[in-house]
Amino acid sequence: MNVAILMGGTSTEREISISTGTAVAKACEQLNYEVDSVMLNDSIESVLPRLRNMDIVFNALHGGEGENGDIQRCLDEENIVYTGSGPEASYLCMNKHLSKGVVREAEFDTPDWYLINPSDDIPKNLIFPLVVKPNDQGSTVGLSIVHNEDELIPAIDRASVHSDKILLETFIPGREITVAIVGKDVFPIVEIVPSHELYDYECKYTTGMSRYECPAKIPEALTNQIQNDALRMYEALNCSGYGRVDFRLDDNGRYWFLEMNTLPGMTDTSLVPKAYQSGGGTFSELINKIITEALNG
Ligand SMILES: Nc1ncnc2c1ncn2[C@@H]1O[C@H](COP(=O)(O)OP(=O)(O)O)[C@@H](O)[C@H]1O
Ligand SMILES: [Mg+2]
Repeated sequence: MNVAILMGGTSTEREISISTGTAVAKACEQLNYEVDSVMLNDSIESVLPRLRNMDIVFNALHGGEGENGDIQRCLDEENIVYTGSGPEASYLCMNKHLSKGVVREAEFDTPDWYLINPSDDIPKNLIFPLVVKPNDQGSTVGLSIVHNEDELIPAIDRASVHSDKILLETFIPGREITVAIVGKDVFPIVEIVPSHELYDYECKYTTGMSRYECPAKIPEALTNQIQNDALRMYEALNCSGYGRVDFRLDDNGRYWFLEMNTLPGMTDTSLVPKAYQSGGGTFSELINKIITEALNG
């Protein structure tokens, strides 16, 4: 089988995408697939001729048009098979405001939030601490915890470098957990214990900057409930192939949806491989599972 690994792209997450793509390419070689690593440096049209000859495209892009549905729509039009969610779900999940709305509509918990433009008046009666983040960025880029009113404007300025829509979200104290899904299989919950206040860019991508616990030490009944609900959120958001849901878990055992990642990282330090490997599987088997999902799903 011929597999194209699509990586790079022009978003702020380009370097992470190259790490994901390199790891995936290595796994595909171990699986004895014919691999073409396709580095995306400008528009998707420039690489379409290379993709048309392949049996499948593994989408190793992160952020921007690789994750927001634009490239998925283009590949659909070309009848090219690719891994992960389609254009509508990708668009929805890239937009935190929209995806939080769907999740709340389905009666799950997600922290209260305002969506503002950087030039808007600040909403009245805000309760601190707040998390300020761009509506459509990943990797904790442009995100701040705001402890008081004085910190608010600088935080909005930092977020507005990356997006013209900003979320002001209630800060949820507690633990950081994430749930990976491939097809209909929900993996063991991963707990992340970052060495910073936030699971920020450095903690995400530097080995040793976070501690991971998988399976997370959470009572069994609650674990099952979180896993079931993660799958229901994935379905409510119309995701397919694979995905990863980020939650905060508070001291009362309430879990709060933060976001759905339709193209979660697949590097050595990434969470989906950790979750899968905790059950005894290998990285190559995980990649094969994602490819099989795309071909048969
Ligand atoms: N409402 C919140 N309460 C507490 N921590 C948060 C909240 N929102 C984000 N964070 C922290 O910031 C990290 C990144 O936020 P997230 O919404 O997952 O965006 P992204 O990963 O796309 O940058 C989270 O993993 C968590 O550590
Ligand atoms: Mg996240």
